[in-house]
Amino acid sequence: MNIYKAISKSVIDKITQVPEIKNFITSDILNAMSIEIPKVRDFGDFSTNVAMLLAKTLGKKPRDIADALVPYLKQIPNVASVSVAGPGFINLKLKDDYIKELSFKEDTPQNLSNGKKIDLDYGGYNVGKNLHIGHLRTTVVGDTFNRISKYLGYKTKAYNHMGDWGRPMGLIIAWVLENGMPKNVDDVNRMYPASSARAKEDPDWLEKAQKITVELQNGNPEYKKIYDTFIPMSLGQVDRLLTRLNILPFDENKGERLIAEYVPDVQKILEQKGLIEHSDGAEIISVKQDSDTEPMPPVMWKSSAGAQTYAAADLTAIYYREKTDNPDAIIYFTDNRQTLHFKQIFRAARMAGFANDAELQHIGFGTITGADGKPFKTRDGNVPSLDEMLNIVAESVKNRVKESGKILPDSTIEMIALAALKFNDLMHDVKSDYIFDVDAVTNFEGRTGPYILYTAVRLNSILKKISLVSDVQDCELSAEERDVLMFLLDFDRTVEVAFEKRAPYILANYAYDLCKLINTFYHNCPIMRDDIEDKVKSKRIKIVNQSVKTLSKAIDLMGLKVPDEM
Ligand code: ARG
Repeated sequence: MNIYKAISKSVIDKITQVPEIKNFITSDILNAMSIEIPKVRDFGDFSTNVAMLLAKTLGKKPRDIADALVPYLKQIPNVASVSVAGPGFINLKLKDDYIKELSFKEDTPQNLSNGKKIDLDYGGYNVGKNLHIGHLRTTVVGDTFNRISKYLGYKTKAYNHMGDWGRPMGLIIAWVLENGMPKNVDDVNRMYPASSARAKEDPDWLEKAQKITVELQNGNPEYKKIYDTFIPMSLGQVDRLLTRLNILPFDENKGERLIAEYVPDVQKILEQKGLIEHSDGAEIISVKQDSDTEPMPPVMWKSSAGAQTYAAADLTAIYYREKTDNPDAIIYFTDNRQTLHFKQIFRAARMAGFANDAELQHIGFGTITGADGKPFKTRDGNVPSLDEMLNIVAESVKNRVKESGKILPDSTIEMIALAALKFNDLMHDVKSDYIFDVDAVTNFEGRTGPYILYTAVRLNSILKKISLVSDVQDCELSAEERDVLMFLLDFDRTVEVAFEKRAPYILANYAYDLCKLINTFYHNCPIMRDDIEDKVKSKRIKIVNQSVKTLSKAIDLMGLKVPDEM
């Protein structure tokens, strides 16, 4: 339950009952009104600025208004005290019994979706290339966002818009025609870069690849046979990596090739609406608007060579998704170099009348850099594959574990490495660049994945060793215990905010703050010691139990795996 929402609602209910004030509660005031959870909880659990907002309209001092509101707010059930602070902030403190009741009862899963459906587009891997560091954020953040949406009750459909129908296909086929079929995915991964390098130097080669691409798209059986040989190799590689990364299965691997079937339908609609223009042999859609202050090039609908374009696949995908899913939103997670692309596509979609009822949103990522601020490369100067990234991290974890004198199985090392890599990715605001420093992300202390796992493992092991000894109904809460429980009660609000802001980093940082809080609590409020009264012991066990539950939920949403020991 989102206790913050419940309190906000009660506060608004109460103030709109106050006779001398209720007529002044405009929607402007309600919009500007904040109910905050103060960092320092001494004054209360929630604090509102409503008296300050009313001061102007009423022509009174904020403190006087606050004083007048206090008796009303005191009537809110489960509020222990209401006080006025500073220039006129009103603070509310909840009753301990209420906190205990909320904390220790079974929480029923919430459903906030109103039945809404969301299509998510992330991953978007390319055939012919291994998954690399550039796919990390779209994969990890997209997957967590998917999990968050599901947690809140949304119906999601995760699309992996595969890059499997463009020029790289022609380049690979041209290479195969000269050098023979690939035997495995490593062969495929070598062919594309080799052929692409050659095309940069040799215009004839490029032209040949372009021609092959168009012919493949038009159904040339010889090319299709080659294509059908290397596609499963590439897809197998994607699947294996997604499993290694503990990513939920995509609902549809419908990318550039499978969407091609619907391109003629869209072509017809675009033509009927008069949206297609011809320019140097290509077909384009002009999406410029008078109000544009930045360059807005046209959408390339069909290339001058006659090939289906990247843009055509995305525009058609919107048409398809509206027809099959009728989603309330389509959200794309890619790096921010594609911002313009999606702006163009969204405009073209609106002009064509596609998905008019759906919100179209692109979340653009920053870059993962090395210490020098340039895109992260391995020591030999290569763009690392995601396998290599995980291996580098696992190696560092292994060394740390060795240094500490512990022996952990490889499966545990892998789980820690996964947490290190993913948590580090999740904790940064997606929009900004971040520096990837392998030593920092594998630290067992600080804002890291290993620290999160370590806390979970430790709490699990405490719970294994002890069991409840008495009832906890009539025991008091210390300030520290109260803080932990209040923070746990803030979990659902955190998930909701992370969803609304499309910002999984809010959840990741909550998980870290929770770990810190619970570790301090455990340090200051011993459980196992013999001199601790049964009642107190039981209460603390319950708090640990509740913390584990909440932390586990956060860990699941981040797609991490918790080992048995660390
Ligand atoms: N395959 C593309 C690339 O690697 C990313 C696809 C992103 N998703 C999309 N619907 N365009 O650049």
